[in-house]
Amino acid sequence: MLIFWLKILYSLVLCVVVYNVWLILTYNRIVRFSWKENGRWMLLLPFVGNTYVALFTGRRLNMLTTLLWAERFIGLPVNFWFGHKYHYMCNSAEEARIVLNHPKCYNKAQLYKDVKYIFRNSLLLIEADKWKPRRRFLRNAFKSNMLKSFFPTFYQQSFNLVERLKSVGPEEDYFKFFNKYAFMNFFLTSVGWRGEYIDPNIEIFGELIDRTQDEFVKLLANPLIPAYIWINIPPGAKLKSLRTQMKTLLTLILQDKKQEKVETSEYVDNPKEGTLLDLLLSDGYEKETESDVFEELVLFAGAATDTTGHTFAFCFTLLGMYPDIQHKVYEEVMSVVGDHSIEETNIKDLHYTEAVISETLRLLPTIPLYGRYCEEDIDIGTKVVPKGASIFISAYHIHRNPDYWKNPLRFDPNRFLPENISKIIPGSYLPFSAGPRNCIGQGMALTLLKITVANIVRHFEITSKHKSIKEFKLESCISMKTYNNLDCHFTLRVKP
Ligand code: HEM
Repeated sequence: MLIFWLKILYSLVLCVVVYNVWLILTYNRIVRFSWKENGRWMLLLPFVGNTYVALFTGRRLNMLTTLLWAERFIGLPVNFWFGHKYHYMCNSAEEARIVLNHPKCYNKAQLYKDVKYIFRNSLLLIEADKWKPRRRFLRNAFKSNMLKSFFPTFYQQSFNLVERLKSVGPEEDYFKFFNKYAFMNFFLTSVGWRGEYIDPNIEIFGELIDRTQDEFVKLLANPLIPAYIWINIPPGAKLKSLRTQMKTLLTLILQDKKQEKVETSEYVDNPKEGTLLDLLLSDGYEKETESDVFEELVLFAGAATDTTGHTFAFCFTLLGMYPDIQHKVYEEVMSVVGDHSIEETNIKDLHYTEAVISETLRLLPTIPLYGRYCEEDIDIGTKVVPKGASIFISAYHIHRNPDYWKNPLRFDPNRFLPENISKIIPGSYLPFSAGPRNCIGQGMALTLLKITVANIVRHFEITSKHKSIKEFKLESCISMKTYNNLDCHFTLRVKP
């Protein structure tokens, strides 16, 4: 029996040695770069690379905790091999600025390929040559005129939120709660939904998006099994079925929308400006298959929902933890708008409220990591990253780096007041990424965040038992949240 197990062990060791030798020979330049960076060679396992370090983090597998573990025991910058795909993780504002603006780094990191396997042809993932014209076209759905037209919906929805917050219980999962709110706002504006009768379907679609993200997290947390195998075995079947359900539902919603446009003679073949859906349904949207419209819409809905929803959850909790800061927001809102309705023109005067949102996104960037692929050798200032490598930017680390931020863990919105903005070091604040392939929905997210925070703080006093952000046990596969529910309470303000 012992001989049998020894033989097995011998075969496994041989397999690992052969794999490492193959990798060193095939990716020689990248291997040398990674060796030089961390001054050591970490044994790579087939399929897994060196992501097995995640097993030592003691929590559910996810990118952020793995990186935090590596930072603690190896130090940053750090190398990650997902199988044979090499990723250099950087925490430098200077390097990030170069990478995010480099024309040979417009493509996404190799790790994104798992997502790409399920949703191939969306703006977030398509190759740079196809991405450029599509981005130019879809930008029309997020220009300032469009954002202005979203304002009444956002404001109306913020009142619906006031009503819902009156009855939330202490056990509420605020991430899911605000995800729903963010999704509805996206759908009612970017999809331009006005019909009342299909509302239940919209809600179901929002839930499917949420569940799809949960399933994606499981896929990404299993580097052992490649995506194309994952979706064909029982644990991945759910993801495939969710995709089918979303597609069926969205097809119905799109048919209704098309019909509504024809009936109201709003259908335009090639609109210069319109909602996201207007543009996706027009001839100007270059698609390879009919499925592209579905994939684009699902990806946009996903990109708009968790990011904004989790930012709400963090922002309100921080306001609950810092009553003085909350009071300043309240004072500002009362002095700018008082009890009147919030007008679109008021938004630009809510400087402190905006600073609170920016400071929330600095400490808790809901997309803490994002990556690009080097199509050629890229000189990032202090070193040259070889062609074929991917570079991950850790906004999380850059935002907490004491070289760029004094007292980085302090929640201090004053950093973002107009008089202090010029002191921010370029490249040190990247919640929406930067350069040409930054977040297309930044303006939309910030408008919704500002209107909502202003209206909620006007109605509620927020409290939280958390004492410090060090208590937040963070995780992130796609967007960042905490393992446990946040403690946050909304009590209606007593008007004098
Ligand atoms: C607080 C809210 C948000 C945050 C923190 C955020 C953050 C980001 C970041 C960091 C990226 C770059 C990702 C990468 O390079 O891999 C990104 C891209 C993107 N975001 Fe957002 N986002 C937010 C809201 C939104 C909204 C509301 C929408 C849509 C309505 C949206 C749509 C997108 C899309 C489509 C991309 C891909 C852009 C491209 O590749 O050209 N995001 N976002």
